[in-house]
Amino acid sequence: MTVSKLSAITKTILQSQTPEEEVSAIKLLSDFFLTFRSNRIPQPSDQTEIVLNGGIALSFDHAADCLQDYYRTARFIKGVYLSIQELLLRFPGEKINILYAGCGPFATILLPVLPLFKTDQLQVTLIDIHPESVKFVKELFTTLHLLPFVDSISVQNAISYRYPSANLHLVISETMFHALLTEPQVAITRNLAPQLANGGIFIPEEVTVEAVISSFSNEPFLSNTSTPLLPVTPERTLIAQLFSLNKSSAQSSSFSNQEYRSAWYQIPVFQKSSPDICLFTHVKIFKTLELGLSESLITNPYCLVSILNLPSNARISFIYNFAELPSWSYQLAD
Ligand SMILES: C[S@@+](CC[C@H](N)C(=O)[O-])C[C@H]1O[C@@H](n2cnc3c(N)ncnc32)[C@H](O)[C@@H]1O
Repeated sequence: MTVSKLSAITKTILQSQTPEEEVSAIKLLSDFFLTFRSNRIPQPSDQTEIVLNGGIALSFDHAADCLQDYYRTARFIKGVYLSIQELLLRFPGEKINILYAGCGPFATILLPVLPLFKTDQLQVTLIDIHPESVKFVKELFTTLHLLPFVDSISVQNAISYRYPSANLHLVISETMFHALLTEPQVAITRNLAPQLANGGIFIPEEVTVEAVISSFSNEPFLSNTSTPLLPVTPERTLIAQLFSLNKSSAQSSSFSNQEYRSAWYQIPVFQKSSPDICLFTHVKIFKTLELGLSESLITNPYCLVSILNLPSNARISFIYNFAELPSWSYQLAD
């Protein structure tokens, strides 16, 4: 009964087309998970983040709340479902090995699609750095009779984790914040993408960060995640695409020494209508499934600096460092 209810919710999510449909479908999933969560005794560590070299792992509570980033959750679930279908075609007759790195308490973007497959089609490995999330997700899989899909569920650091075989077909990891700040998406992608088999898929397929001149206060910014944003287009000028993180680029030398440095760009003349240098994030989850600017907390705009605070006629280079806490800075030159 419970699993058939979950399958029905997942089908509603997969069929949702408009933002409103996506929100209401994910609300059903949220209610479904909350019935399990409400039986759990809260733990003192539930709001504790873990600081790693490479980024912060969100607390149990915060990771659970990501579910309510509605378009994000809906589109990742759709993307994971389609990527599994694609892999079943790419690797006929093989069991698809899936690693979910940073599964959180609900394995939110993978668990809902599992009842739509057969246990001899998929084998999943779930890891998270938070013991309480791992404990809870294990209980969830047990209660929902989904353990036959599972190879292992364990506490691991995805920044250094080694998958035990060479036959890894799909890696799923959503461990990011806007502009790839704070959380360890880059460090995790750099560790796990090279472990994929040839033809394997990393979800999200690509995360792009652009530097744009705009008015930050006029940019759409998602805070209430259930309200679709009205399309507003402040005056914007692209400075450059800074980098694009995907399974190939993650291994490239542009990220060496846990740092990325852009080329040099002329700082534009200050204008009241577009006074800021902002960083925009775009997430290509899988094929045409995407999260555009401000459609999710992970694609909200980030204001790096106001041009008013920069010397005129200077040049600027953008620096992303993820040795410890991922952050953006810049360097100036004459
Ligand atoms: C943004 S939450 C996403 C939760 C869930 N996967 C979802 O999509 O709703 C990120 C999760 O990744 C975990 N995480 C972050 N860094 C990690 C690391 N280095 N190793 C293992 N888990 C990590 C956090 O503990 C948290 O549960």
